[in-house]
Amino acid sequence: MIPRLKPFFSGKEITSFLNSGISSVAQFEKAFALQFHCGDAVAFPYGRSALWAFFKTFGIEGKEIVQPAYTCSVVAHATVLSHNIPVFVDNTLYDYNMQIDVIRNGITPQTYAIIPTHLYGYPMDIDTIQTIVEEAEKKVGHKIWVIQDCAHSFSADWDGRSVINAGDCALFGLGISKLISSIFGGMITFEDPALARKVRAFRDAQFHSGHWLKTLKRFAYLLALYPAFNDSFYGLVYWLQENTPFLNRLTKAFHLDEEIRFPPDYLDCMLPSEAEVGIAQLGKYDAIVHRRRQIARSYHENLKVPDEWVLPPWVAGATYSHYAIRVPEREPIIDKLASHGIQAGRVIEYSIPHLKGYRSFASGSDFPNAYLCSQSMINLPVHPSLNDGQVERIIETVNTLE
Ligand SMILES: Cc1ncc(COP(=O)(O)O)c(C=O)c1O
Repeated sequence: MIPRLKPFFSGKEITSFLNSGISSVAQFEKAFALQFHCGDAVAFPYGRSALWAFFKTFGIEGKEIVQPAYTCSVVAHATVLSHNIPVFVDNTLYDYNMQIDVIRNGITPQTYAIIPTHLYGYPMDIDTIQTIVEEAEKKVGHKIWVIQDCAHSFSADWDGRSVINAGDCALFGLGISKLISSIFGGMITFEDPALARKVRAFRDAQFHSGHWLKTLKRFAYLLALYPAFNDSFYGLVYWLQENTPFLNRLTKAFHLDEEIRFPPDYLDCMLPSEAEVGIAQLGKYDAIVHRRRQIARSYHENLKVPDEWVLPPWVAGATYSHYAIRVPEREPIIDKLASHGIQAGRVIEYSIPHLKGYRSFASGSDFPNAYLCSQSMINLPVHPSLNDGQVERIIETVNTLE
C-alpha cells in the first residue's frame, strides 16, 4: 500500500543517529539557520514547546494571540498553556490559510502576537500581514509579534521571498510527517540573533536533558519506521490503524486534539541523536521540496475529478506538505482508494473553536469554512519517495473512481 506520508529516511539517518555528540544540537541549530538564511535557530523537543517557550521568554501572558481556526491544535494548546487567549480566524476556501481581512478585524488593544500559518505549504501574503501589523501597532501603541508558523511550509516563497524570513520569528515542527524530520523535534528561528539568545537562555534554564533511556527508545522508534513505511508492509500498518486501538493508543499518549495538554516530555531538550538526524535531513531539503512540487504539478495537470471535488491551487512558491482535496463525502473515497492500495489522509479533522476545550474562545463566530474543511478534506500522498509509476497509478485510480 502507498502510505499517505513517509519520512524521507535512508541509512544515513541511522548512522547519523549513532554519531551524535554533546555539540550536535548546537550544530543542528547552526546548520538550520544557514539553510534558511536566518539570524539564528533554537531547537526544542517539539514545535509546541518552542512556541510555549517563546511566549514565556518575552513575558507574553494573558494576551490575545491571533491564529487560524483551521490548523494543528497544538498551536492553540501552546497559547492556552502559556496562559494566553487564542483569537481564531476562519480560513479561505482557496488555499485554506487565514482570511486576511478577518485578521485585521481580529486585532484589539489586547493583541500581542499573530501567527500567520502557511498551511499545506501555501505561503500567506506576508507583505499585507506586515502592513496590517504596522498599522495596528500604531493604533494600540505596543509591539505585535509576528510568528510565522512554517511547520507545514518550511521555506515556501511569497513573491520570491521565503516566508521564514518575514516577521519576528518562524516556528517549525520536525516530527515524521513534516518535510524534514529529526524524528521528533521543533525549531524556532529569528532574524535577530539577540532574540534567539534570549529564548536559548530561557530553554537552557528551564528544559532538562533527555534520559539515556529516551535515546534508546528513539532509536527503536527510528528503526521501526523503516519497515512500517515500507510499501509492502504498510497494508498491515493501515489495517492496524483502522481496525485496532493499538496505534491510536500510541499517538494519544503524545497528542489529543480535543485535550489541552502537552506530552510529558515537552520540557526535555532535543536529543543530540535527533539533532544529527535533523542535520542529515537538511542535506536533502532541496531535493525533497523539488520532488514534492513535481508530484503536485503532475496531480494538478492530470487529475480529472468530479465537479463537486475541489482540487488545491497550483502555487509555484508552495512547498506542498500536503495535496489536500475537498470532497463532498470523504469516507467512501478513502475506502475505495484503500482498496486500490492507496492511503488518502483525513487531513485536519477538526475546526479548533469547535473542539470541546475551545468553545469558550469562539467569541460568537461559527467559523463555517474551518468546519467545512474539517469534514471534507482528504489528502493524497505527495511524499518524495513516490516514483513516477506510483504517481501515475494514483492519478489513474482517482480519475477512474466510480
Ligand atoms: C501547522 C502546525 N504548526 C505547529 C506544529 C507543531 O509541531 P509539534 O508537533 O512539533 O509540536 C504542527 C505539528 O503538527 C503543525 O502541523
